[in-house]
Amino acid sequence: MIEIRNMSVTLSGRAVLKEIAFEARPGALTAICGPNGCGKTTTLKTIAGDLRPDRGEVVLNGARVSELQPWQLAEMRGVLPQASNLAFPFTVTEVLRMGLSGRSNRKAEADRAVMEKALAAVDLQGFAGRFYQELSGGEQQRVQLARVLCQIDAPVAGGQPRWLLLDEPVASLDILHQLAIMRLAKAFCRDGGGVVAVMHDLNLTALYADQVILMREGRLVAKGSPKDTITDDNLLKAFSTRLSVSTPPADDTPFVLPHAAA
Ligand SMILES: Nc1ncnc2c1ncn2[C@@H]1O[C@H](COP(=O)(O)OP(=O)(O)O)[C@@H](O)[C@H]1O
Ligand SMILES: [Mg+2]
Repeated sequence: MIEIRNMSVTLSGRAVLKEIAFEARPGALTAICGPNGCGKTTTLKTIAGDLRPDRGEVVLNGARVSELQPWQLAEMRGVLPQASNLAFPFTVTEVLRMGLSGRSNRKAEADRAVMEKALAAVDLQGFAGRFYQELSGGEQQRVQLARVLCQIDAPVAGGQPRWLLLDEPVASLDILHQLAIMRLAKAFCRDGGGVVAVMHDLNLTALYADQVILMREGRLVAKGSPKDTITDDNLLKAFSTRLSVSTPPADDTPFVLPHAAA
């Protein structure tokens, strides 16, 4: 369980998060939604232990994040950042090895198997020797997710759920890979782990999320099931724009929505 208790965060003197409170359960995909700049990334970084709240606290599997050592955090949660620019010409294998660092007691063969499994999970078989900088934006994002999967290679460890904290994991992906990554996240939850993902696509969120956290200007607008949170009223509050929920366009504008989450 991740418990976020009245969390406030100030960055460079600006109150960026104001009394955020919610829980993320293992076995469930929690989506954080809201306009640009509302504090989604800051929320995720604070849950990850990369930023400190100035009030409130984050509790990860019963332990205060502020009291966990970096190696303990690395065992419990993997973080996919919103953007990852690498300054050096790393190969895909070298990027994946960053996820494996700290597991020096494992055999090289076992490492290779973990890396191959992670690449297959993001549909990048055969990419191991490619240069990261020569990949498309969507491929780079999937390599980064594979790196996280090398670090968090099983959804449960020592009887405790592990966590994927994903900042816009499908933002630059084609629809096929968006669905593949969402299914991967769901499978991780089904197997006992938990996922917290920042999402912009409200349709994908409605399809896959178990819980939606809707934010605006550093505060919660709504939290709960997609059905309870993704409503005309809440979307108006969050985005200051009238959006109609579950009404296909009146004219003949194509409306693309996958049929099922399976
Ligand atoms: N290091 C920082 N110093 C000051 N303000 C910041 C810093 N990082 C982010 N912010 C501001 O905090 C707000 C929330 O940012 P962020 O969490 O990245 O938003 P989101 O991910 O929802 O788009 C934005 O207004 C942003 O400009
Ligand atoms: Mg962000």
